[in-house]
Amino acid sequence: MDKIIIKGRRRLRGTVAASGAKNSALPILAATLLAGGKCVIKNIPQLSDIATMLKILKLLGMKVAFKNNSVTVEPFDDKPHETPYKLVSTMRASICVLGPLLAKRGLARVSLPGGCVIGPRPIDLHIKGLKSLGARITLDKGYVVAKKKRLKGSHIYLGGSFGSSVLATANTMMAATLADGKTVIENAACEPEVVDLARFLVKMGARIEGIGSPRVEIEGVKRLKGAEHTIICDRIESVTYLAAGIITKGDVTVKGAQIGHMTAVADKFKEAGAVIKKVDGGVRAYCDRDLKPIDVTTLPYPGFPTDLQAQMMALMGVARGICVITEKIYPERFMHVSELARMGAQIILERPSAIVKGVRRLIGAPVMASDLRASASLVLAGLVAEGETEITRVYHLDRGYEMMDKKLSELGADIRRVRE
Ligand code: EPZ
Repeated sequence: MDKIIIKGRRRLRGTVAASGAKNSALPILAATLLAGGKCVIKNIPQLSDIATMLKILKLLGMKVAFKNNSVTVEPFDDKPHETPYKLVSTMRASICVLGPLLAKRGLARVSLPGGCVIGPRPIDLHIKGLKSLGARITLDKGYVVAKKKRLKGSHIYLGGSFGSSVLATANTMMAATLADGKTVIENAACEPEVVDLARFLVKMGARIEGIGSPRVEIEGVKRLKGAEHTIICDRIESVTYLAAGIITKGDVTVKGAQIGHMTAVADKFKEAGAVIKKVDGGVRAYCDRDLKPIDVTTLPYPGFPTDLQAQMMALMGVARGICVITEKIYPERFMHVSELARMGAQIILERPSAIVKGVRRLIGAPVMASDLRASASLVLAGLVAEGETEITRVYHLDRGYEMMDKKLSELGADIRRVRE
């Protein structure tokens, strides 16, 4: 296993390029199961989660090639219909093959994802959406089995107790593209990654209205053809690098980032005293003063993203005062708190909130990554801490950040990756 070693207190300056969005690439790769022909998906990041999805597509009878951040997928054998536990348990997002598999082959058997460190990961909304389209769903030895020769469009409300669901919206929308008649999804997720998926489906011949709104209408078609698509840039990765510029009182530009995908975050960064603005071909952030403490609550898009809660906590860990960070999407998503505390952060957990009292200095220490975004918050803390921070289990980072150590070095960080 590798570890990352950071010597803190270096101001980051310069420009990095954002990679393609992991959370757009995963459902879009799953959507290629719907196509009757070859798909070419560009700007795919080199991440372990992507490798897992490509393994799943191969298991499901697709011919797959991945070169220079571009994936070619071609249907080869439409008999397989099972996605095994060992792959789904490493990547919960594998659940998004359920909808396309059912719609295209009439049968799908996908392992239940199980929980993960950020909390329970239920799929009741996925099942509700597919059942509304006429699927017969059973649970069999830890697998969801969905059957239906031909799905039928319907009017579906997909809101859950935590608001909209990104992948339940994706699964239902993908399945509806090949259903008989019209489907309306109310309280659909509006994340840019869901918009990107819908745009890819339209290129394949799907008929979708209301893209990006909470009410999406899909008119089913008989078949979908192969298509070419370029994935949007990763907004979560982009903001992580902008936050690295801010926390080190530096000046960072992320090429390819879209300010329109990060309105809630930009609003909070400005309130905290940083400057963040659209520049030609990207977004720039800089900060030359101590940050003000700002309360944050995570919400479905366009609210403050849960995937940036841990990174914001690192920033607030060195702000000048006390703030409250409330996690409304995954109330357990605080694995980073104890590790940040090892570096001197003063945080009191009152789930689903954390009370953060900014300190003058974080101190470098050996810490352990626990999940993808918690690991990113430890990197941010390490960049601003006094002395050396050693982060183990960086395979968590590799799930969602392409060449993070290289990109941060390009910005002037003293960071190196070593084999443990
Ligand atoms: C997507 O997960 C993202 N993953 C997550 O990013 C992200 O945190 C999440 O959306 C929220 O934005 C991918 O896109 C691959 P949800 P998803 O269904 O779709 C509850 C990362 O770090 N819920 O939008 O699985 C759920 O428990 C990952 O890149 C139900 O109750 O999340 C949560 O509280 C982590 N029933 C809330 O809804 C369901 O059937 C939102 O979850 C489904 C979800």
